[in-house]
This record gives sequence, C-alpha cells and structure tokens, in this order.
Amino acid sequence: MPIIAPSLLSANFLQLQQACDMLNRSEADWYHLDVMDGSFVPNISFGIPVIEQIRKATHKVCDVHLMIQHPELLTEAFHKAGADILTVHYEACIHLHRNIQQIKGLGMKAGVAINPHTPVHLLENILPDVDVVCVMSVNPGFGGQQFIPGTIQKIQQLSSLIESTGSRALIEIDGGVTLENAANILAAGAHVLVAGNTVFRSADPLATIAKLKQF
Ligand code: DX5
Ligand code: ZN
Repeated sequence: MPIIAPSLLSANFLQLQQACDMLNRSEADWYHLDVMDGSFVPNISFGIPVIEQIRKATHKVCDVHLMIQHPELLTEAFHKAGADILTVHYEACIHLHRNIQQIKGLGMKAGVAINPHTPVHLLENILPDVDVVCVMSVNPGFGGQQFIPGTIQKIQQLSSLIESTGSRALIEIDGGVTLENAANILAAGAHVLVAGNTVFRSADPLATIAKLKQF
C-alpha cells in the first residue's frame, strides 16, 4: 500500500483546523507541508509559525518540503516547529551532504527533492544517506499543475539506482498526482504519493484519500 501525503497547500487556509480534522480521520499517512520563499520558487506559501500550529493539531508524520534557498539556516527552526521529515532541494544546496547530516543530526528523517530537469543519476552519492527522494513531477511553486509524463521514466531509473546503491530511500512523487495516474506512478516504483488538488478539490476528500490508499 502506498503512503499517502496530502498537501495542505491546496487546503482552505481560513479553515486549517477543519483540514487537519479531516486528515486525522482519514487514511492519510503524512501531512505534506510546502514551504516556499519567493526566491527558489516564484511563490510564497507558509512557514514556521503555521507548521507549529499544524504540529499541535496532529500526531501524523509532518513531511516538510522546503522550496527555499539556504535551508541550513532554518533547519533547527523547522525541527523545533515539529517537522518529522525535512526535505531540501538538490538545486538549492551547494553542500547537500552537510545539509542532510545536519537534518539527521537533529533526529529528523532527511529528504532530497529534485526538479523536473534534474537527472536522477546526480543523486547516486547521496542516496545511501537519505530517507526520502522527492521527485517533482511539476515545476515547484504551485498546486494544481499537470503531471509531467517523463517523470515515470525517472521513477524507474531512480528505483534501480536506489537498489544498486543499497539505499533504503522512499520515492515520493510530488505534483499532479491524480486517481487516473496513481497506478502508473506506483507501478514505476514510487512509495509515497503527494496529492494537493486531487484531495482538497474533491467532493469527498476522505473517500479520495481512501481510493489513493487502495492502489
Ligand atoms: C508544488 C508543491 C506540491 C503541491 C502539489 O510546488 O510541492 O506539494 O502542493 O499539489 P498538486 O497535487 O495539486 O499538484
Ligand atoms: Zn511539495
């Protein structure tokens, strides 16, 4: 069964408590929390104070996806805010290995995310050190975009690379995941499905999460 990580970016921010109550009652495994700085990506979402409040509203895993420059400056603050998994972007980290060690040193799980143009082979030497690889299947910055089809091949390549490097990293797919493409994504080797619009824009979010979980 896949791990389902609904993205709160698509929730109604005036009703975050309701969104959390719904997710807590649902079969969702993780909360996917998208942090944007207006520099690494052309959008700004929410940050540390909001995550602190969400942390109080759930016992589920808080999976924080940092779309920010210089994540090393805020790693400790996100840990204090309650992140269980902290994911940084390959493209934003000159010293990725150091960033990953910093995250793990604080007791969090560490993730690395790659943009659509970044080939998976660039991760070869970091794979044994990470817990999650987040493959962006849209250009990061916005919810509700179309899944980029070439991602399927990247998942297959990453899956083999993970096996050959002895890594135990989970493959997380982020962007444009729907009830229509979930089966293909999982067949290619993904373990975690992030879903924003598919969950929060659906008529029955609880049922949609349950359907994603069944794939
Ligand atoms: C995009 C974010 C995603 C986004 C996914 O930059 O990283 O997590 O919320 O939203 P959907 O599922 O609507 O594409
Ligand atoms: Zn995300």
